Amino acid sequence: MSPAPANLSPQLVDRYGRTVNYVRISVTDRCDFRCVYCMAEEMTFLPRAQVLTLEELAFIGRAFVDLGVQKIRITGGEPLVRRNVSRLFRDLGALSLRELVLTTNGSQLPRMAQELKDAGVRRINVSLDSLRRDRFRQITRVGDLDQVLAGIEAARRVGFERIKINSVILRHRNDDEIIDLVRYASERGMDISFIEEMPLGVIGDHDRAEAFYSSDEVRRDIERAYTLTATAETTGGPSRYFRINETGTRVGFISPHSHNFCESCNRVRLTVEGRLLLCLGQEHSVDLKRVVRANPGDLATLKQAIRDSMAIKPRGHDFDLAAQPVIFRHMNVTGG
Ligand code: GTP
Ligand code: 5AD
Ligand code: SF4
Repeated sequence: MSPAPANLSPQLVDRYGRTVNYVRISVTDRCDFRCVYCMAEEMTFLPRAQVLTLEELAFIGRAFVDLGVQKIRITGGEPLVRRNVSRLFRDLGALSLRELVLTTNGSQLPRMAQELKDAGVRRINVSLDSLRRDRFRQITRVGDLDQVLAGIEAARRVGFERIKINSVILRHRNDDEIIDLVRYASERGMDISFIEEMPLGVIGDHDRAEAFYSSDEVRRDIERAYTLTATAETTGGPSRYFRINETGTRVGFISPHSHNFCESCNRVRLTVEGRLLLCLGQEHSVDLKRVVRANPGDLATLKQAIRDSMAIKPRGHDFDLAAQPVIFRHMNVTGG
């Protein structure tokens, strides 16, 4: 009997028996917004030589697919501000992935939605924390709400399989907009996930413990207007999903603090600098940029380095909102 093709049996299994089949790739640390939970007001971005090239990114993507990865999510910073990024989408779209997906702030979608769809992107997640112009500007520091709403409309027009809104809820900032955001998503047939803020990087804007608004509180607020029913649906990410009985909308909760999901972690992340991070909340990593640059075109060596990394994937994060952040990298380097 001939041997099974390599990617039919899971090859990336860590010490705790978790199979890694999802890779999040941050393609740039740059962004046209400065969201208060993600960045400091003044940021220094990486020089180009330290950032993986689009060819290197595609090569690493291919190694992961060979190793059984079925889902790649492109993140940033804002991935769509990277020049020629469509080429990467096309290259990755040509691999045998179950899903090529994108997380974006939406600002470039009016210009790029169609080419992303054509490249094979199936689902997109768009961050949207407020539907009020002045408040949206405060949270993103520089963002323009109308541009993002136009981006979401452009994405709806080109017909992605699903669009999901991501909202980070902060107490006294946007906790009074939960129902409005749910209504906005449900009227347009989109999903929505509510995210608890994570202590990544020093942001200097607010006290994260004071601003913490738990998923249970969000749920309680939604239940004042709608009936939620828990579902077993999964998108292969950390969201726990519910359905709104009245509208059929899917509502997800990403709750690293109140409902830890590390036990079922199925993902790793590639930072803009080519570090393979084994956990969002820890520093364990392998320098894949070094491996790729020392062995150009050598897929076998790269795959071995990725396989070996499974030995250091930590059990989970130790986020503590009351303490100073222990992870100093900002979310824009990691891509969430
Ligand atoms: P789906 O494929 O739609 O399930 O996407 P997703 O929720 O995995 O991805 P998205 O980029 O929309 O991320 C939403 C939020 O989940 C972000 O704030 C991420 O930082 C967070 N997130 C994703 N994976 C992890 C994880 O492994 N650990 C933690 N703590 N947070 C995560
Ligand atoms: N905590 C939680 N979510 C965050 N995001 C960015 N920074 C943080 C943080 N500190 C979210 C963005 C986007 C996703 C990729 O990560 O809003 O939706
Ligand atoms: Fe940019 Fe996203 Fe960070 Fe906001 S959360 S500053 S949109 S990378």
